[in-house]
Amino acid sequence: EPADLLAEFQAKIDREEKIEPRDWMPMAYRKTLIRQMSQHAHSEIVGQLPEGNWITRAPTLNRKMILLAKVQDEAGHGLYIYSATETLGVSRDQLTDELLTGKAKYSSIFNYPTPSWADMGAIGWLVDGAAIMNQVPLCRCSYGPYARSMVRICKEESFHQRQGYEIMTVLARGTQAQKDMAQRALNRTWWPSLMMFGPSDKNSTHSAQSMKWKIKRFSNDELRQKFIDATVPQAEHLGLTIPDPDLKWNEETGHYDHGEINWDELFQVIKGNGPCNKERLQARIDAHENGEWVREAAQTYQQKQNNQHNE
Ligand code: 3HC
Repeated sequence: EPADLLAEFQAKIDREEKIEPRDWMPMAYRKTLIRQMSQHAHSEIVGQLPEGNWITRAPTLNRKMILLAKVQDEAGHGLYIYSATETLGVSRDQLTDELLTGKAKYSSIFNYPTPSWADMGAIGWLVDGAAIMNQVPLCRCSYGPYARSMVRICKEESFHQRQGYEIMTVLARGTQAQKDMAQRALNRTWWPSLMMFGPSDKNSTHSAQSMKWKIKRFSNDELRQKFIDATVPQAEHLGLTIPDPDLKWNEETGHYDHGEINWDELFQVIKGNGPCNKERLQARIDAHENGEWVREAAQTYQQKQNNQHNE
């Protein structure tokens, strides 16, 4: 690509100008955005499954309505980000095909089981809490459609996080059995939530370039640390114990020191060997196949509309 175009593009980024779909952009910028945004959208869609498991099992009508609203929001987040990805010249069908054939990645966190109601609390509190940490800076991403899609998503994410924390609060202040259930959900969810932020900076393939292009505003480790620092006091407030014996406030750095993350587990889950990877993908494949008639009906209806219009 011509050096002067590349220089002008980087100058635009440095001036904090937004890149819009019709603007010239380096192939690599387009490629890494399609990569990250499609994985983000896939994560939203697959992310509905662990919680969907509890919609029919919610303990009260109120909890059912809240969970239903949250899962519905996630579907909307997925559609938002798929639409933003399509502005880069890739089709929805291609993205769906990449997910269903196992070619595409989605966040490792959604490959874990949700055996108890308390997992609905831990997911809202920790997973959506981590997502907020990651998505707020993305509101300032250099690519216009992605940044704009994040603004509304972040607002809805705050409701997701609050409702999860409220579930954990009720359980932590309930009977001993409820408190134990909340503690077990925290034990299951804590470390996989830290892995959502990606590999450590030294092993991050894309961070340096993504930060130069202002797609990424903070490194994986910086966001992970922000999340830990914000979440430890919340766990203390609940009277629950974070399952990391090495977690300790460091007066000098003003951050919590923590134990080593099991990176091999993250890479295994990313490779498809997590506890629920096969089940999650099969659920998406089944949904796609069972939804074929809806797509056909919509296309037939549209065709009729077009024919009438052309007569
Ligand atoms: N799960 C799966 N894959 C992961 C991962 C994770 N937790 N962390 C990193 N990876 C992958 C990356 O995609 C990359 O693989 P690729 O080259 O095939 O794409 C590889 O591991 C190396 O990681 P990098 O740090 O170099 O990759 P990135 O610079 O893309 O950083 C990221 C990873 C921080 C997840 C970044 O992609 C990002 O910010 N994505 C947008 C946010 C997002 O997708 N969040 C996921 C959860 S969405 C969610 O929780 C919704 C909420 O409503 C519940």
